[in-house]
Amino acid sequence: MSEDQSRKPDEIENDADAEASQPRRSRINITRLLPHPNAYTLALDNEYRDYAFNEERAPLNKGQWRSSVFKCSEDAPMDVEVGTGAGMHFAWYAHKFPKRYLVGLEIKYKPLIQSIRRAQAQGLRNTAICRYHAFDLDLLFEKGEVNNIFIHFPDPWVTPRKPKNRVVNRKILSLLYDMQRPGSFLEFKTDSREYFLWALDEIKETPYKVEFQCLDLYKEGGSYFEANYQTTFEKIFVRQGIEINYIKLVKP
Ligand SMILES: C[S@@+](CC[C@H](N)C(=O)[O-])C[C@H]1O[C@@H](n2cnc3c(N)ncnc32)[C@H](O)[C@@H]1O
Repeated sequence: MSEDQSRKPDEIENDADAEASQPRRSRINITRLLPHPNAYTLALDNEYRDYAFNEERAPLNKGQWRSSVFKCSEDAPMDVEVGTGAGMHFAWYAHKFPKRYLVGLEIKYKPLIQSIRRAQAQGLRNTAICRYHAFDLDLLFEKGEVNNIFIHFPDPWVTPRKPKNRVVNRKILSLLYDMQRPGSFLEFKTDSREYFLWALDEIKETPYKVEFQCLDLYKEGGSYFEANYQTTFEKIFVRQGIEINYIKLVKP
């Protein structure tokens, strides 16, 4: 049995020894090689295969999301949501903006299938999802292929404290910046003040311009709060009285 086959389906391993100058590549299980497929892993490659792409099929769409997957014009706006969870925002957004296209990224099979199932059940053909690691986003999209990007409540990596695993870091942000079309934005929300303050320093090292930021979206967010969709995780945090840190970055 290969090393990959012996891992649990959702296990993620980061290549912590990667050279600093190289993109930090992750290693995830290959769905095709899973010794014990379950209903979610099977749905990914069968029922939803036209809209849900495993880690082997997803990169084949690089540069062709509009032409091959969505079969829309190259001018059509296409957004990306990183870590869709159960897909509440994913489906809400696709429904609210039917003329935009949305590609989700999710590492875990169950939330991935929940997300695409939710969208497809509502007839939202403007959505697709990939089982992929956010650190490898540049293998999925060409420079200038993407419009807006959403990163809502990514794992904060505070316990255990492993800032190297945080998705909102200067290297990933710079890759995302290059992938975006001019005039696009990136929205980042987190319940973790520690992650947010750390991320602000990372953001300073990128070409992004800050359109708006605050430490408490619900008290200081104004029109950003009014336009806000409360995600599944956000609901839990707000109920617990935790402040929601928010920043909107733009690529001029
Ligand atoms: C805390 S949940 C937030 C879900 C959703 N965005 C929300 O606000 O309700 C974080 C999600 O990101 C996914 N995730 C974590 N690390 C990831 C990675 N490196 N690449 C892609 N998805 C990841 C997790 O599986 C989980 O579903």
